[in-house]
Amino acid sequence: MSENLSPIDTAKFVAAKRACEFVESGMRVGLGTGSTAAWLVRCLGEMVREDGLEIVGVPTSTRTAELARDVGIKVVSLDEAKWLDVTIDGTDEFDAELNLIKGGGGALLQEKIVATASDRMIVIADKTKQVETLGGFPLPVEVVPFGWQTTKALIEETLSSLEVLGDSSSLRMNGDAAYVTDEGNYILDLHLGRIGNARQFGMVINQIPGVVENGLFIDICDVVVIGHGDGRVEVKDITAGTTEQEVIEFLDTENLFSDMAE
Ligand code: A5P
Repeated sequence: MSENLSPIDTAKFVAAKRACEFVESGMRVGLGTGSTAAWLVRCLGEMVREDGLEIVGVPTSTRTAELARDVGIKVVSLDEAKWLDVTIDGTDEFDAELNLIKGGGGALLQEKIVATASDRMIVIADKTKQVETLGGFPLPVEVVPFGWQTTKALIEETLSSLEVLGDSSSLRMNGDAAYVTDEGNYILDLHLGRIGNARQFGMVINQIPGVVENGLFIDICDVVVIGHGDGRVEVKDITAGTTEQEVIEFLDTENLFSDMAE
């Protein structure tokens, strides 16, 4: 085990490393966004360079595309790949049914499109992402900039008819300006506390004009790989109904991951 990694980074790394076992030569692979997904891209890059793994990657953000190219993964667009064998991505929350809240990194729209266009979605996460009920993490909702304040007001009005605890939202900022997604949209973070019926919530919110997509991933994730700070991983497969545990051994990640920025 490397002494260079904090427990949280170890947890993310071992989850990513284990998830690489789902990837085989010839596959078209959706590449997620965020700090955990960045570990995955690094691990896959190493397999491409060192082990001759032949894959094409469809990134879910410009920053993932840049990292993937840097580590030697051939990057193509979703339209070029058309359909993917597997997508591997991080998450902000997951529950027992493997429903998710995503978008903390602002890439939920591409992430949802790519994951939905995949035979399987594998989520990689440290244990802290596991929740009993979704909603503690502010739910990101991508909205078009035109009339965003009206959209925000409409969303908040709608919240009163839904099974949630909180009813406020905030525009995501990047310094003094609104955060702008890869698609040129804004993100509203909904402070809900608890979402009683996530399936219904996602459908209702998406009906509001101005809303592009929300960060609830319902019935999209097939497998979650949960990493722990001591190198253990749990692999929970919702379709097979199985949970397996193992320990990921690794020696020294210093050369591979010394320049990890996220
Ligand atoms: C990116 O938009 C998100 O959906 C990320 O996958 C999510 O925020 C998890 O990110 P971390 O792995 O950095 O926690």
